Amino acid sequence: MSNEAPTTLILGGTGRTGSRLTGTLARRGIATRTAARSGADVRFDWDDPATHPDALVGVDRLYLVTPALRVAYAEQVAGFLDLAETVGVRHVTFLSTYNADRTPRGIDIAAVEADLAARQAVTHSVLRPAWVMQNFGDHHLPVLDRVITAPSGGGAEAFVDAEDIAAVAAETLVDPDAHAGARYTLTGPQALTFGEVAEIIASVSGRPVVYHDIDPEAWISGAVAAGVPGDYAVMLRWLTGTIIAGNGSVPTDDIEKVTGRTPVTFRQFAERNAQTWSVEAK
Ligand SMILES: NC(=O)c1ccc[n+]([C@@H]2O[C@H](COP(=O)([O-])OP(=O)(O)OC[C@H]3O[C@@H](n4cnc5c(N)ncnc54)[C@H](OP(=O)(O)O)[C@@H]3O)[C@@H](O)[C@H]2O)c1
Repeated sequence: MSNEAPTTLILGGTGRTGSRLTGTLARRGIATRTAARSGADVRFDWDDPATHPDALVGVDRLYLVTPALRVAYAEQVAGFLDLAETVGVRHVTFLSTYNADRTPRGIDIAAVEADLAARQAVTHSVLRPAWVMQNFGDHHLPVLDRVITAPSGGGAEAFVDAEDIAAVAAETLVDPDAHAGARYTLTGPQALTFGEVAEIIASVSGRPVVYHDIDPEAWISGAVAAGVPGDYAVMLRWLTGTIIAGNGSVPTDDIEKVTGRTPVTFRQFAERNAQTWSVEAK
């Protein structure tokens, strides 16, 4: 039997929220283990169950990020949660998504939420974030030749900073009892159109950046041609269709309720990352 302090396992530990969560938990004195296929503390591959037991050694809390760019994973996640329960995990914080209870058939986000709710041996918290601001700083929604291209039909979204998601996740993992059964809807403080996002990026980077609306099917075909799995098209169609229909996320106060801090605005995020686009938009 080990005398080491229980550890929090962070799946997606090199990703946008997981990497930030690790630092925050470490500052709060919580032992962490990041997990990913490469570059993390432990090698963990959803598709290689042989990597799962080692990742879970000494773990009592789990940050659950489901397999990337997939829609059908409920059984795989259930099997992993069964193992996690067996080895002593007692709390799971699940990175879900905004409107998870309205996902179309075939997307397993709601199924994972339901699985967690049905488990007796673990408590859980669910984080349902809006579109992440970081999408505009990486390959998801890049500024290419001074243009952001995405389908939105002029609809707005309350983009949220991954730092704020990680901050809420940290609170749930530091004090699971206080957040057991909670569902937090995480958004930025304002709903912005993609045109407004382009204006902010242009203003902080000092370079012209414009927004180009595009037919959603053309955009999805382009994503699939660029390597996004074809199965994932249903997710992209749902996410963009929601914004086009005018049902994008609206601001909530859950981040402030949980962390005591107001969520980061898009302008603050953009100022922090201005360098990204100063180079991109040349
Ligand atoms: N983007 C958005 O706007 C948005 C909004 C709401 C919710 N979400 C949800 O956020 C989740 C993504 O979280 P994130 O943004 O923090 O991460 P992320 O930046 O997308 O990174 C994905 C992480 O998962 C790991 N990973 C990918 N495939 C894996 C596999 N087969 N086995 C094990 N690990 C794997 C990656 O590392 P390796 O590649 O090295 O394995 C990386 O650490 C998704 O479930 C998405 O639905 C995203």
